[in-house]
Amino acid sequence: MKRAKITVIGAGHVGATCAHWAASKELGDIVLVDIVEGMPQGKALDLYEASPVEGFDANIIGTNSYEETADSDIVIITSGIPRKPGMSRDDLIQTNVKIVAEVTKQAAAKSPNAVLIIVSNPLDAMVYTAWKVSGFPPNRVVGQAGILDVARYKAFIAKEVGCSVEDISALLMGGHGDSMVPLPRYTCISGIPVTQFIPGGKLDEIVTRTRNGGAEIVGLLKTGSAFYAPSAATIQMAESIIRDKKRVLPCAAYCDKEYDVGGYFVGVPCVLGTGGVERIIEADLDEKEREAFLKSVEHVKALSAKTEQLLKG
Ligand code: NAI
Ligand code: 2OP
Repeated sequence: MKRAKITVIGAGHVGATCAHWAASKELGDIVLVDIVEGMPQGKALDLYEASPVEGFDANIIGTNSYEETADSDIVIITSGIPRKPGMSRDDLIQTNVKIVAEVTKQAAAKSPNAVLIIVSNPLDAMVYTAWKVSGFPPNRVVGQAGILDVARYKAFIAKEVGCSVEDISALLMGGHGDSMVPLPRYTCISGIPVTQFIPGGKLDEIVTRTRNGGAEIVGLLKTGSAFYAPSAATIQMAESIIRDKKRVLPCAAYCDKEYDVGGYFVGVPCVLGTGGVERIIEADLDEKEREAFLKSVEHVKALSAKTEQLLKG
């Protein structure tokens, strides 16, 4: 069977760790791209030299050009600046629109049939950028955020309850920002509603901590943002696509009639398979949940409008 080919653009914290998780899962051959000379080559060689120890078979190369990325099945975009303490994800838009637009153009030209997974922030605006610039159908452009946000939510719940993270099932929707919408009504531990384990006030604290999860790590690291959990989340998406697992995962997907969004990328549960985003699941939302979701969508729309302006300018 032909191995899948995965290009990761941006060989910094998130990109290199994506390569690490992808290699350890034997998802395919990996091309790591960055503008810094020698750095992607060095990281790729180092990771390849780990393969005899860890026992994975994959060709891993680093490069500063797009030639080697040709005919990738998946292109993961992590290039761009991360935030520093005191910054919001939205503060990155000016710089990252340019970077994401430029790398998307080059990668899409070399791999016209790939699925693009976008990670760079502000996430919802960067997915929009990649979609506009690539000209790809929207099902082949998807953003990572929801899996990370849900993972944080699940991790905090597991700690509080003292149970395995594996037994928690949860849903979170909306944009990747302060307006994200965790949904306690859809949170269970082995099928039992979470409210039977955690009282309302404590659960509200967990929801708030989840919303601030990215800033909490930035505050601790001081020089950049989270990368282990974000890259694990990204590779879970890549795995579902490459292995056609059809996982139902919360991702930033293009919604038009779905949830009445009207043509923007926003965090919703969707089925990921060979075709990229194969289906969007419309969960029933009560009035309060719907209101919170639509508020988040408004934020995403404003960011996307800013993106349009920056792309024109
Ligand atoms: P980093 O600074 O460690 O790595 C970014 C890399 O992009 C650098 O190596 C840089 O040289 C490279 N780069 C910049 N311009 C480039 C270009 N034109 N072509 C190729 N490479 C280029 O940053 P880190 O921590 O890896 O974060 C990357 C991005 O991902 C940031 O925007 C960050 O906010 C975002 N992020 C998003 C998450 C999400 O859940 N969606 C989670 C974590 C980070
Ligand atoms: C996070 O939530 C930086 O968006 C990234 O950690």
